[in-house]
Amino acid sequence: MKTRQAPLPEFYVGLPEVEIDARIIEAKKKLSSRLVILGHHYQRDSIIRHADFRGDSYKLAKDAGSLPDAEYIVFCGVHFMAESADILTPPSQVVILPNMAAGCSMADMANIFQVRNCWRALEGLMDVSKVVPVTYINSAANLKAFVGEQGGTVCTSTNAPAAVEWALQRGEKVLFFPDQHLGRNTGVRLGYDPSDMVVWDPFRPLGGNSAEALERAKFILWKGHCSVHSRFNVGQIEKARAEFPGVNVVVHPECSLEVVEASDDNGSTSHIIKVVSEAPPGTSWAVGTEINLVQRLAKEHPGKTIFCLDPQICPCSTMYRIHPSFLLYALEELVEGRVVNQVSVPDEVATFARRSLDQMLQLA
Ligand code: 13P
Ligand code: SF4
Repeated sequence: MKTRQAPLPEFYVGLPEVEIDARIIEAKKKLSSRLVILGHHYQRDSIIRHADFRGDSYKLAKDAGSLPDAEYIVFCGVHFMAESADILTPPSQVVILPNMAAGCSMADMANIFQVRNCWRALEGLMDVSKVVPVTYINSAANLKAFVGEQGGTVCTSTNAPAAVEWALQRGEKVLFFPDQHLGRNTGVRLGYDPSDMVVWDPFRPLGGNSAEALERAKFILWKGHCSVHSRFNVGQIEKARAEFPGVNVVVHPECSLEVVEASDDNGSTSHIIKVVSEAPPGTSWAVGTEINLVQRLAKEHPGKTIFCLDPQICPCSTMYRIHPSFLLYALEELVEGRVVNQVSVPDEVATFARRSLDQMLQLA
């Protein structure tokens, strides 16, 4: 979802970093237990150090729903994460995204009109009561609502296999959006073949497929991808193995199937952090995910060789929009009793979206 962000007030624009940091600490003290700051693993260090809870999308969604005492939840992550937090919290709690322009390019690759068109096209070909929609949490709230209405589930990179297994116990096919790679990697992990899958291109009639191919397919995968994870390739893995004999390669499942198959392990951001952190000193790790996470891991584990598979810096540019000056502005406004950048999902959307998010939480 593309959302506009009003320019920061002049005062905050040129503030030195040390002053921003000190003022954030001060504002946090003033707001005390009324405030909780959540930080996704891709946030920069100067944000993460202020987070009360860090995590991947799954953990942060759970955290948000289990903080009944916080009046304000400031979500340092991207828009779909703040929306999920708002859906999972009571109306009395206010969810704030410090920069409303922090979206997710993958989430923007599927919108409700396209998904409804796809569903209508499938209705013309088959009994859609046997098609179970599964949306990755990286999607707008109205897509989660659509999935909730149709009896499907949300998934994250943590529980995608459980979500897809659940879906295939309830129906014969899965419509998975918006990330084709997570969908394909999950299907293969569950023992299906890529030939059991078709890709749905929202800009082509029948998604670019024949009616027969759609009828045959077990998985209909939306043509979406992550701009960060699509940078990783098998050549980078081969180069890392040649330069660092014995290196372990771990990647996020938003990478392509070829990359996942050429690596040693794959999983959510929390999984990546866990395996690298728990590895013995002296081991080497080539990591296929966002650079802030990789650099932090390298700093926290000086006894291990930890580097990003992509030699060019690969930050998530939308996560990066949560600059400390935006966080400070949001907090100082709260101190003054003013709420800025509230993320509020309308009731008619939230009701059904909560159904698919609750389903996801039950799966774990
Ligand atoms: P995680 O749920 O693994 O943190 O992933 C979120 C994400 O956006 C990865 O690109
Ligand atoms: Fe979206 Fe990719 Fe950024 Fe994750 S890394 S928030 S999927 S653009």
